[in-house]
Amino acid sequence: MLTQEQIKLIEESPLPDALKSIAQLFPGGARFSSSLGEEDQVITDVICRNKIGIEIFTLDTGRLFYETYDLIERTNSRYKINIKIFFPDTSDVETFVNEKGINSFYESVENRKQCCFIRKVKPLSRALAGAKVWVTGLRSAQSENRKGMPMIGWDEERQLYKFNPLINWTYDEMIGYIKENNVPCNPLHEKGFISIGCAPCTRAIEPGEDPRAGRWWWEQSQKECGLHTDHAAAKK
Ligand code: ADX
Ligand code: SF4
Repeated sequence: MLTQEQIKLIEESPLPDALKSIAQLFPGGARFSSSLGEEDQVITDVICRNKIGIEIFTLDTGRLFYETYDLIERTNSRYKINIKIFFPDTSDVETFVNEKGINSFYESVENRKQCCFIRKVKPLSRALAGAKVWVTGLRSAQSENRKGMPMIGWDEERQLYKFNPLINWTYDEMIGYIKENNVPCNPLHEKGFISIGCAPCTRAIEPGEDPRAGRWWWEQSQKECGLHTDHAAAKK
């Protein structure tokens, strides 16, 4: 368990040092979930540049953009890594699409959440099995739901620490890092896609729109897929 002093030290450290501390405190126990978004690419760059012992994985829902698959390849070859890919359970997907339809997520929030559960939330549990720390690219400025999330929280449901090292970063800071370090990114960002998820559930946004307005744009819901609904707020 982390002490309050350790948490404070990590929270006040620059990004590379914070990630190094986590890797040292939990050898082999820290895993980073990357959706290949801009936040995630910054973290991947820091992990790889500094050879930090944190495993990087992604959840392939089967419905990602062509450009995202291409970015997985480009990232692997740039950093000479192999991002570990987790897929949904075949029979879960087959049953769901055969019973409800291939694009049933447009029909109801319930269907959409079920699809996210099958394609993202369940595979995440497999990806994190045995992990002690889950590293994410969450930033509090991304949405109302994410405001107030701590940098290090205890995820009661998954029984691990959730570490959000970019939680206090602004959009401009992130873009500054990407430009300065020539970090490979999804070309869709240049076309107005800010937050990128699955292809059928993501659209470009207009200038001035909420950064997450392009996710599940037809819904009035909280626009979360279930990966981050717990808030992992209570520090241990
Ligand atoms: S989501 O919950 O709406 O899908 P978002 O796209 O903002 O999340 O990404 C926030 C963080 O969730 C990412 O930085 C990453 O850590 C994790 N994440 C989201 N989607 C994936 C994915 N497909 N694979 C791995 N991690 C993901
Ligand atoms: Fe299914 Fe859309 Fe959720 Fe992707 S974002 S898992 S396609 S509902």
